Amino acid sequence: MKTILVTGSNGLLGQKITDLALLDQEIDLFASSKGPNRYPVASGYQYVDLDICDADQLFSTITKIQPDVIIHTAAMTNVDACEDDREACRKLNVDAVKSLATICSEKNIHLIHLSTDFIFDGANGPYTEEDEPNPLSFYGQSKLDAERIIQTSGCRSAILRTIIVYGIVNDMSRTNIVLWAKGALEKGDPISVVNDQWRMPTLAEDLAACCLLAAKKEATGIFNASGKDLMNMVELVENVADFWHLDKSLIKPISSESLNQKAKRPPKTGFVLDKTIRELGYQPHSFIEGLSILDKQLKSFTH
Ligand SMILES: NC(=O)c1ccc[n+]([C@@H]2O[C@H](COP(=O)([O-])OP(=O)(O)OC[C@H]3O[C@@H](n4cnc5c(N)ncnc54)[C@H](OP(=O)(O)O)[C@@H]3O)[C@@H](O)[C@H]2O)c1
Repeated sequence: MKTILVTGSNGLLGQKITDLALLDQEIDLFASSKGPNRYPVASGYQYVDLDICDADQLFSTITKIQPDVIIHTAAMTNVDACEDDREACRKLNVDAVKSLATICSEKNIHLIHLSTDFIFDGANGPYTEEDEPNPLSFYGQSKLDAERIIQTSGCRSAILRTIIVYGIVNDMSRTNIVLWAKGALEKGDPISVVNDQWRMPTLAEDLAACCLLAAKKEATGIFNASGKDLMNMVELVENVADFWHLDKSLIKPISSESLNQKAKRPPKTGFVLDKTIRELGYQPHSFIEGLSILDKQLKSFTH
């Protein structure tokens, strides 16, 4: 039996981890997020209202729960907002991780931390775990700083790096590319999509499963944890259009430069997944299989 504390449990990944942990008899789950619980089921686990930026609250909550593992999903994840409000980004993505890593090190708790492909500059993707990071944005820099803090803290840790996560959960605070593209195309709205960025989109369920594999295997080190299909963003939304029989002519390919976003994005990321498949038994779905899993969930959400 493992006691697992999840931070950011109201988020996309947090709710998917909760789904899986509730099915697992060997996990005693504590879900935590800032503010009221938004997970639709109230039993089978305990919920704690926890702001991870409050170091005292973080310490007292962890001391009380005494988890074997903490899966740290909470973060400031809006890349342009991080560029705009660097102080808030630093507080959540770096300072809170420092407190967490210190506590985990003192109490010998296994820390599973989520990181991103945005630590790379996108000049040479797909990347292995050993490739040299070079972030282009403040968000990417904050996540890299957090990785380094964890690695030097001395705590037992696994860092799982992922790439655009998609899926649906209850009462989401932000959307993702698949839901956005599907929603817009269904309404007949034209969408502009960059044709000079390549990614490996990740089904939220796959990433949640990878977090639990890392917890069970007490894995340490860095692991790539994305989907397995590398595609251009235009191809990605074309796949979405094809899957739901939507009008592809509404998709307008544009360059990243013309979008003029606050934060710079890496052109081509993607991950080599060999280590994670070999060492953790990670088995990601293809993108089309992922869309089909999402489709079934969307149908159950609307009935
Ligand atoms: N999503 C992606 O495409 C992507 C790509 C690469 C890496 N990642 C990484 O994967 C992890 C999980 O991402 P996600 O998509 O699940 O993000 P998400 O849906 O934005 O979830 C993050 C959760 O953290 C909560 N939170 C925010 N501030 C908090 C605080 N101070 N204390 C406690 N909880 C707080 C948020 O609450 P509210 O919902 O109330 O705001 C949200 O529920 C993150 O570390 C992210 O950097 C994500």
